[in-house]
Amino acid sequence: MSQSTSSERVIIFDTTLRDGEQSPGISLDVGEKLEIAEQLARLGVDYIEAGFPIASQGDFEAVHAIASAIEGPTICGLSRTAHKDIDRCWEAIEPAAKRRTTGLPAESTITTDEFMEATLDVWRIDAEQATRVGHPAPFPVELPRRLIDLYTYRDDVVLDPFMGSGSTLVAAARSGRSGVGYDLDPEFVALAGQRVAEERKRQAHGLGASWRRADQAGTGRQEALFDEQAEQEAVLDRAAEAGKKAADIAEALLGEAGFEVVKAGAGLRGLGVSFPFLATDAAEGRPWYVDVAGTFTTSRPGMRRNDVLWRTLGRAHVLAAADEDARLLVLTSKLPRAGSDGDRALRAIGGRGLFDAIEMFDEDGRERLAGYATGSPDRPLPGFWSDAEVERHFG
Ligand SMILES: C[S@@+](CC[C@H](N)C(=O)[O-])C[C@H]1O[C@@H](n2cnc3c(N)ncnc32)[C@H](O)[C@@H]1O
Repeated sequence: MSQSTSSERVIIFDTTLRDGEQSPGISLDVGEKLEIAEQLARLGVDYIEAGFPIASQGDFEAVHAIASAIEGPTICGLSRTAHKDIDRCWEAIEPAAKRRTTGLPAESTITTDEFMEATLDVWRIDAEQATRVGHPAPFPVELPRRLIDLYTYRDDVVLDPFMGSGSTLVAAARSGRSGVGYDLDPEFVALAGQRVAEERKRQAHGLGASWRRADQAGTGRQEALFDEQAEQEAVLDRAAEAGKKAADIAEALLGEAGFEVVKAGAGLRGLGVSFPFLATDAAEGRPWYVDVAGTFTTSRPGMRRNDVLWRTLGRAHVLAAADEDARLLVLTSKLPRAGSDGDRALRAIGGRGLFDAIEMFDEDGRERLAGYATGSPDRPLPGFWSDAEVERHFG
């Protein structure tokens, strides 16, 4: 294609999310709209008409979410020429427009998966212990961090006029914001100052270290939890770098390993189940169904969530019932903890239904994936399955 001059350039104004949604039988929730908007941004459209904000609360929320999270295209909303319409429309698109035009920070630090999780009604976050923090009413740093990530941008200033032990300011520092706090009690002012200083010291030793939370050191069990969070944070950083969404990362990993993704959204005819990808290996061109389980989020990622685990098990079971020779790879951001109920349930489906379950950023897992693409073996490589389980289930 020849290079076009700017006067020849076609400007694309996409109305899928407004006009398209008004087609009979179509209804999109905020998550689906965000997903489509992300794809439109990737396609390089110039404008996205994200909805009709005055039409309903759902439309308003969708436009607001898209204006907050999507970078690249200009985000618009539809409005009639009435003050009420225009005000509501401006309210919805303001997060993107105002920030950029006034030169205020506008860089989001939340992955799309985290954004989606944060829009759920119930947040699951591990509890904090008063004795560990030294304040009678502490809460986990993860809680203000999620709110800060969701409602502010990197380099913004967070004000906590009731600073207490400083959990909010620790969260602000951890997510790349500055913080200012006040408290009536000088002891809390000192404690908060100390915690923020410790947080900054850990950050100076690398971002991952900031997740060890040595300022909250306590029982062995909790320390193990924090180490695990440090590990998760490193995975999240890589996820964000790699393109944000678990399904995108899975697709990239399949390609890197030597698979060809022949179909995205591979359904099983008549069974109402579909898998994110159908891929063929490079060795023999044999088909593999690929499921992507869970998201890259800091709390309960991947198959650590019961609903994700059981959805994956259900789909695997339907696939095995429909086609006993089908091979299913499950790619996840996190496998269930070894020996947990979830781990036992996953192993119980054995060779029928599950060929291998692979953590996306586990080096050994990625090697197994490459082994399947280049060798098309009939038995999985030990890793998720032990040698004995490979023998027992795949004979
Ligand atoms: C539950 S703590 C706040 C926790 C804190 N936002 C954090 O992120 O860790 C409430 C704090 O508000 C302080 N406080 C109460 N009244 C206040 C006031 N009028 N001005 C400043 N601080 C006040 C208390 O001393 C107490 O430490």
